[in-house]
Amino acid sequence: MRLLVTGGAGYIGSVVAALLIADGHEVVVLDDLSTGHADAVPADARFVRGDLRQDAAQVLAEGFDAVLHFAARSLVGESMAQPQMYWNHNLGGTLALLDAMRAAQTPAIVFSSTAAVYGEPDRVPVDETAPPRPTSPYGASKLAVDTALAEHARLHRIGAVSLRYFNVAGAYRSPGGWLGERHATETHLIPNILAAACDPHGEIAIFGSDYPTGDGSCVRDYIHVTDLAAAHLLALRACAPGRHVVYNLGGGTGYSNLDVLAACREITGRPIPARTAGRRSGDPAVLVASSELIAADLGWRPERDLRAMVRDAWEFTRSRAGAP
Ligand code: UFG
Repeated sequence: MRLLVTGGAGYIGSVVAALLIADGHEVVVLDDLSTGHADAVPADARFVRGDLRQDAAQVLAEGFDAVLHFAARSLVGESMAQPQMYWNHNLGGTLALLDAMRAAQTPAIVFSSTAAVYGEPDRVPVDETAPPRPTSPYGASKLAVDTALAEHARLHRIGAVSLRYFNVAGAYRSPGGWLGERHATETHLIPNILAAACDPHGEIAIFGSDYPTGDGSCVRDYIHVTDLAAAHLLALRACAPGRHVVYNLGGGTGYSNLDVLAACREITGRPIPARTAGRRSGDPAVLVASSELIAADLGWRPERDLRAMVRDAWEFTRSRAGAP
């Protein structure tokens, strides 16, 4: 298939682009490099540097079988401080993309949605029937896109799949080298722990020790970026005209922040000093996904556990040691 990957210079988009190429597809990446990295775009993909709102129409006019849409702002805290940026980029950008898809008659889209649409869930594991109640503009903007996709499927007969990711981690060894998390402002737990492991004076702050969980730290459901990327290839084949489907994607196991720290200490073989800090505002105590629906419909199952995620993220971190 001929596929457009928006945000294909970012962490998840670049891994999906690499897997699509390995699967024999022709890939064009559209990315404005506001948060992505040109060197993460697979060598066999054509790279167009541009913005969805200005450039999607021209690129899509070339004719594509589907879009995999990752281009977005994705920091919860930043979205609280600058909500308009999230509405403009995440919703505004996607509406422009959908306009361009209609004009070019692009039939299908797989969208990078998020567990943040659920906010603080009443019960876990969280399945797709949980009421969406986002607690941040980030989650709200992604939910608005899910709604727009449902409407576009119904009224314009596109095929759409929204994949709601829980905590994505790990790295992928592509033919061009390791692809992993490289955010200018890193807020995620595993990369922050591994950065502390590399710094002789580093330590990790664990936010919150009084949550109603086994050890008092938050519990999250981690999914390896390679398993997540594989789900996109299945979702692509599942796009059917007039239908919008939502799938949650997680590993199905809850790990506390202290479990994750222990796994990082074991795999790196480094002590990694930690200190307990106050709660981070907006963090739900426990988030665990039910991925039963995508397992039943598409046969997707996670194959890599937390240790594999930490091991690959550590390989990636070391491959970049000394790199800018
Ligand atoms: N944490 C720390 N120290 C750090 C970084 C994180 O203790 O330096 C803790 C957080 O407080 C939280 C846990 O580690 O308890 C996981 O935090 P992350 O930032 O790694 O991930 P989140 O669960 O906050 O974020 C994920 C997705 C977001 C999504 C959000 C929904 O990455 O895209 O879930 O709640 F919006």
